[in-house]
Amino acid sequence: MSAAPESLRERIARGLAAARAEFAAATSPALLEGWRVRWLGRKGTVAELFAALASADPSERRELGQLLNAFKQGLQALHDGAAPAERAPVVRTVDASLPGRRPWVGRAHILSQVLDEMQSIFVGLGFSVASGPEVELEEYNFAALNFPPNHPARDLQDTFYVDDRLLLRTQTSPMQVRIMRSQPPPVRVVVPGRVYRNEQIDATHAAEFHQLEGLYVDKAVSMVDLKATIAYFSRRMFGDETRVRFKPHYFPFTEPSVDVDMTCFACAGRGCKLCGGSGWIEIMGAGMVHPNVFTAAGYDPEQVTGFAFGMGVDRIAMLKHGIDDLRLLLENDVRFLAQF
Ligand code: PHE
Repeated sequence: MSAAPESLRERIARGLAAARAEFAAATSPALLEGWRVRWLGRKGTVAELFAALASADPSERRELGQLLNAFKQGLQALHDGAAPAERAPVVRTVDASLPGRRPWVGRAHILSQVLDEMQSIFVGLGFSVASGPEVELEEYNFAALNFPPNHPARDLQDTFYVDDRLLLRTQTSPMQVRIMRSQPPPVRVVVPGRVYRNEQIDATHAAEFHQLEGLYVDKAVSMVDLKATIAYFSRRMFGDETRVRFKPHYFPFTEPSVDVDMTCFACAGRGCKLCGGSGWIEIMGAGMVHPNVFTAAGYDPEQVTGFAFGMGVDRIAMLKHGIDDLRLLLENDVRFLAQF
């Protein structure tokens, strides 16, 4: 009753079906390698079948040999991925159903954004924009701005000295002198730039920060022009309800000098945490250009008058965007910067 021994032809046909089924199940690199060794290896099934060819009926040997060769090549092609449609995915590299990745889009730094906004308000009023050196002559930073040698006002702006004559500028005001020396009146200019001071660094003090200087010189410029200009700037920058007030102050290079407050934009002047309950926020120093500065710059104080102001760009950025630590602005932490 035992079945007739399986012919070589039958063994090849059965092998083909089995090899295909096993191949479909070889879903990892390790399983695929096991499959290759079992079927195509030196002692694998294909090698066994070739060995059996020797004892096949000579009349059939040629045809069976061709069949076996085709079988072997088919398996090799499967293995090499020449028939990928029949092959279970072994390693997936792309999943087209995943959401795409957004490309990284850069933008201007928050300080540049705020500065651009500030500048464009003044450009709209007819001011031009200039810039000057951060490593500045002591003469421009102090002496020509009417800071006498050894005057205590210099102590308020201690800085980093390169040598006796050169320092890192403590303010953008030296550009007042540079500009006036380089052109006749009238002058209407704003000067943005980085300034330095020898400060103990904390959330509200930095050794480097940014200012926007303003200078307006012409015949018969008065404090009214200063006040109107600052009031207009504040409304444009912080909203139409904003009002400003001037408090007497001292700067060597302006007389009279003022500190400018504006009504707190967070509480409209009623008093809140941002303004410390007072309803007012200090935004800049300003005043009428001192006659000694005109003289040092080569202008005749009998012929012209003018106003100047200087505001902190970092401070305005912090106020406008609710940033509570000055240090964040210069740390280059993308998680912080990407919010603006
Ligand atoms: N330079 C002054 C400061 O840094 C600000 C200022 C500028 C005041 C112009 C008056 C006029 O404190």
